[in-house]
Amino acid sequence: MATPGGNIFPKWTNSLRVVAAIGGVGVAVYAGAVITFGFSPQATDIGYAPVQPVPYSHALHAGKLGIDCRYCHTSVETAANANVPSAQICMGCHSNVTLPEDRRSRIALVEQSFKEGKPAIEWVRVHDLPDYAYFNHSAHVRRGVGCVSCHGRVDAMDVVYQSQPLSMQWCLDCHRHPEKHLRPLDQITNMSWAPPGGDQVAYGLELKKQYGIHPSQDCSTCHR
Ligand code: HEC
Ligand code: HEC
Ligand code: HEC
Ligand code: HEC
Ligand code: HEC
Repeated sequence: MATPGGNIFPKWTNSLRVVAAIGGVGVAVYAGAVITFGFSPQATDIGYAPVQPVPYSHALHAGKLGIDCRYCHTSVETAANANVPSAQICMGCHSNVTLPEDRRSRIALVEQSFKEGKPAIEWVRVHDLPDYAYFNHSAHVRRGVGCVSCHGRVDAMDVVYQSQPLSMQWCLDCHRHPEKHLRPLDQITNMSWAPPGGDQVAYGLELKKQYGIHPSQDCSTCHR
């Protein structure tokens, strides 16, 4: 996760820019740096799905029950980071929804965390960019990029997994051709939205013009 505002792009990248510019000459140096800094498994592993401390299911809550993403991820439109909800948000329902005896234990940690404040539920991070890469949720969801473009059909996942590579190439592919992903601002969390007429590129190009979308490809946009 990037530290907001911090200057955290390490010095070695300056030399890498040169290496990249002169092509093959510095391959060994470059490969070493990639292995050291660019290959954290969370940042590249499609399908990474860590076991969570509570068997919370998006398929049930966001899918079947139809709860909007922003009910829990409240900061996603206003901040760089999307928050994970506190036990309090869960208990807004679960103090009324009583699970049957044989499944009671599944919610025990949430109840305990709510009552005592401790232990906080230690959700395991699924998506995690290296610290030298800066990402910002609000800059995307307020400009017409929906959750599904980057996280897949979360509303069908019992356990959240990483559905996209989160590589630099992946970021740049969309920054070059955002029309493949743009949607109206009121459909950001709608996982099954489809463009009217079915032609995403034509529709996306129209929105791109209307919203004045020009994603940056400057190094300093994502490495600051
Ligand atoms: C009722 C609350 C709730 C709702 C509604 C909800 N989420 Fe979540 N979300 C959570 C919790 C709790 C976690 C942490 C546990 C986990 O990863 O399953 C989480 C984790 C995530 C993660 C993984 C975060 C990481 O660690 O990288 C993503 C992505 C995500 N949610 C996207 C969505 C999307 C998209 C929607 C709407 C379709 C949504 N969520 C709706 C509660 C919610
Ligand atoms: C809008 C209401 C609502 C909210 C908010 C909510 N839940 Fe639920 N949850 C439900 C309902 C309804 C069920 C299904 C109850 C049943 O199966 O009888 C459920 C079921 C569950 C179950 C049991 C699933 C199973 O396999 O039996 C768990 C665990 C759970 N919720 C965790 C959470 C957590 C953690 C949060 C907060 C991140 C949360 N819930 C937020 C309504 C909610
Ligand atoms: C343009 C791609 C993109 C879009 C759109 C997007 N996310 Fe993410 N999301 C990411 C990336 C990349 C990360 C990892 C960020 C990091 O490690 O700094 C992430 C991380 C998360 C996390 C973990 C906490 C965090 O902020 O690191 C949650 C929760 C989450 N996203 C939910 C959502 C929800 C809900 C939506 C839609 C309202 C959404 N995201 C839209 C790319 C995206
Ligand atoms: C699915 C499309 C898509 C993907 C994937 C994507 N972006 Fe973006 N990004 C956009 C769009 C669209 C904008 C908004 C451009 C505008 O406002 O003109 C944007 C804006 C940004 C901004 C804000 C720039 C500013 O001027 O403040 C940052 C930072 C950013 N993206 C970083 C990333 C990173 C890092 C990744 C990969 C982890 C990524 N993006 C992946 C489409 C995408
Ligand atoms: C749209 C966002 C974005 C832009 C623009 C961008 N990068 Fe990156 N870059 C990333 C992300 C995200 C990663 C981390 C990828 C990973 O973890 O696999 C990364 C990783 C890197 C790495 C580490 C090695 C690697 O390839 O994984 C280097 C070096 C790098 N970037 C240099 C640059 C240079 C030089 C530029 C300008 C020409 C640039 N980046 C522009 C998002 C971006």
